[in-house]
Amino acid sequence: MVIGDGRPLRRNNMSVAMSALVSPRVTLAPPVSPRVRCHGHESPRIAAGWPLLNKDGIPEASEISVVQWAMQLPTRCSDDKQVPEELVALRDRYSSKYTVFSYSELAKITNGFSPDRLVGKGGAGRVYRGCTGDGKELAVKVLKPSGDVVKDFVAEVDILSSVEHENAMSLVGLCVDGGRLMLVYDYMPRGSLEEMLHGAEKQGKEGALRWPERFRIAVGVARALEYLHGGDRRPMIHRDIKSSNILVAGYFEPKLCDFGLAMWADDAAAQVADDDVAGTFGYLAPEYFMHGKVSDKIDVYAFGVVLLELISGRKPVSAGGGPKGQKSESLVMWANSVIQGGKLMDLVDPNLPMDGGDDGEVVERMALAAALCIRRAHQHRPSMSNVVKLLAGDGDAVIWAKSQVGVSGENGQDGCGVVTSPDKNDIQSHINLALRDIIDDDASSVGSADFAGANLSLEEYLKGRWSRSSSSSSFDA
Ligand SMILES: Nc1ncnc2c1ncn2[C@@H]1O[C@H](COP(=O)(O)OP(=O)(O)OP(=O)(O)O)[C@@H](O)[C@H]1O
Ligand SMILES: [Mg+2]
Repeated sequence: MVIGDGRPLRRNNMSVAMSALVSPRVTLAPPVSPRVRCHGHESPRIAAGWPLLNKDGIPEASEISVVQWAMQLPTRCSDDKQVPEELVALRDRYSSKYTVFSYSELAKITNGFSPDRLVGKGGAGRVYRGCTGDGKELAVKVLKPSGDVVKDFVAEVDILSSVEHENAMSLVGLCVDGGRLMLVYDYMPRGSLEEMLHGAEKQGKEGALRWPERFRIAVGVARALEYLHGGDRRPMIHRDIKSSNILVAGYFEPKLCDFGLAMWADDAAAQVADDDVAGTFGYLAPEYFMHGKVSDKIDVYAFGVVLLELISGRKPVSAGGGPKGQKSESLVMWANSVIQGGKLMDLVDPNLPMDGGDDGEVVERMALAAALCIRRAHQHRPSMSNVVKLLAGDGDAVIWAKSQVGVSGENGQDGCGVVTSPDKNDIQSHINLALRDIIDDDASSVGSADFAGANLSLEEYLKGRWSRSSSSSSFDA
């Protein structure tokens, strides 16, 4: 079965064969139109993965306005120009925090949403570049109409309003006017990490991201996730970590964006939603993919996939087909076979030279972190704060990580213990493995192989040590 051509998956719409194998709920949708970049950026024609959306039959944005559509719903509307009252309430709630744009203002700054201002196109809508009168550039995301668009829009704005971190994209404004729902952000001229790694511009060594920049991006995203997952605030789970949801600012400072699927961790704990899996194939943790089991460890797993993209330059799912009928290849499957072979540094893109300095060390730390984050058993993936410590080069964290990954190299059995042959990296194997993982996972009690004495969690390992070593976690990425 060859399904790795980057087509979007939508729940309830997958081919029968795939559906039977994976889950009766997840279905394969028609291909999404190729994405287009303006001002010389040509986005890859094949997306890095398959967005899984729990929405049926989303029409193109131009076919029907959101408000027209929303008015057909059995919801009460206010008198405010027939805008659904939940949107009026939202606008009133945030009018002092965000700029509330009118439709005509946003039409003006985007040249009437002209195609040459189209920056990108995703499952949820289209993004346009806008230029304000004072020369500021904004990104205007026009949401597609769909069954839950009003509810999702309100939820996204509510959740975004609580996110304040230098590595998370913050909202500039919103628009609920003129029959469209729009979110307005600062415009990031470098675009997304996906484009930087896999887009046309990265071709040739000149355009390739170098190791210090890759490391800076990895650390920034790890910090953003550490912030989202805990600390002093109500923890949340992003649920859609992928390279196209990481925008890159001027000094290669990453900005995590797209909180459309984000949810509060305490809500996730209360729910095991078999029928609410949404995300992008290639980044989905096995327990989420199969059982809809949501925890912050699904973000850790997806972050591991992003690390692998940064280290190897490969896509999460590489396209199959082609003249020789190559199979689709899963990055995680390939990486696990390399890790199991004990040659961690074979993950590294051979075309990207290390320029001396500490390139070798930071790349090794990124590879160690990736190996731990993509572990099958979610209990054995590190927390994001421990990933941050590892990337920062904390001595204890590095020793622990090496021992964990080294165990894998020696006997092929650890928490990430992928038992696979290197020639079995195709999607079928990935799915089979996911199925087996779940069986292992469900059967795993405290006595399973993954809990073997040598495989201490980092938390256990660091118990009593951390107080003396924590200062080393602050570093300049
Ligand atoms: N603030 C921004 N500045 C610059 N480019 C942006 C900005 N926001 C989004 N983009 C571009 O628009 C593209 C489309 O974004 P969008 O979030 O709609 O889709 P996606 O991330 O590719 O897929 P998905 O809908 O599954 O999240 C991004 O990949 C990115 O290139
Ligand atoms: Mg996105």
